[in-house]
Amino acid sequence: MEDFDNRPIGIFDSGVGGLTVLAKIKEVLPNESLIYFGDTANVPYGGKTPEQLLKYGQDIVRFLRSHDVKAVVMACGSTSSSVYNELAMENPDLLLVDVIRPGVKACVEMGLRNIGFIATATTIKSGLFGRLLKKQSPNADLLTKACPMFALMVEAGVTHGPVAKWVVETYIGQWRGKIDALVLGCTHYPLLTDILSPVLGGDIQYIDLATHTAQALKSRIRLNNGDTIPQYEYFVSGDAAAFSKTAHFLMQGDLSVAQIRL
Ligand code: DGL
Repeated sequence: MEDFDNRPIGIFDSGVGGLTVLAKIKEVLPNESLIYFGDTANVPYGGKTPEQLLKYGQDIVRFLRSHDVKAVVMACGSTSSSVYNELAMENPDLLLVDVIRPGVKACVEMGLRNIGFIATATTIKSGLFGRLLKKQSPNADLLTKACPMFALMVEAGVTHGPVAKWVVETYIGQWRGKIDALVLGCTHYPLLTDILSPVLGGDIQYIDLATHTAQALKSRIRLNNGDTIPQYEYFVSGDAAAFSKTAHFLMQGDLSVAQIRL
């Protein structure tokens, strides 16, 4: 059993966005080894169909399982909202944690009422966040908006400056004064917080999926026994150097990244 507990945790996303989840998992579970996969050959996931996302998810889960992971975190709102059930059914022996359900749980527990939810087009189209929220908080009011440019901006390192601010204003400027909380329904979006907050003002509560996903994982995982030094490995399906450069620019850390074709 000790060996099982010390196996790594797999984490995946289309690109750098899932690193926001990885960073929180590192904070909350410092003894765990982590394997990250960024599917940069297929980024963005935001406009992809559930069929496409299922195929990507299946390939990635297979790859992560070949590294003997004890759990997989779907650090991506788009796959979480469209293919979580299918992947969970195909991997009944694997702990699979998504980012949408922990986000809903957080909103319910905080008793939030006037909520704005921004995410990729695929996540908004799935309607999952709203359905789960209404089941548990029938009185909550929810505004939703697909922001297809945001993940692309983050992948390109465009997280500041007048153009980025203008895109934010165009998507959500009309929500000023109308919401109390903004759920960042895509894991790329916490990297835009600096330009989101001036548009909506300081009184808004920002709900980032990473924090709540890391807590959900912690509550469900069999913890590493602390005998081993945690290892962090990073893989991408696209250009490894480009990924390291963006990750370094956005998160100020040096990552050694390997390219792998699934
Ligand atoms: N970060 C992912 C999400 O949470 C994917 C964004 C994208 O590639 O469009 O939806």
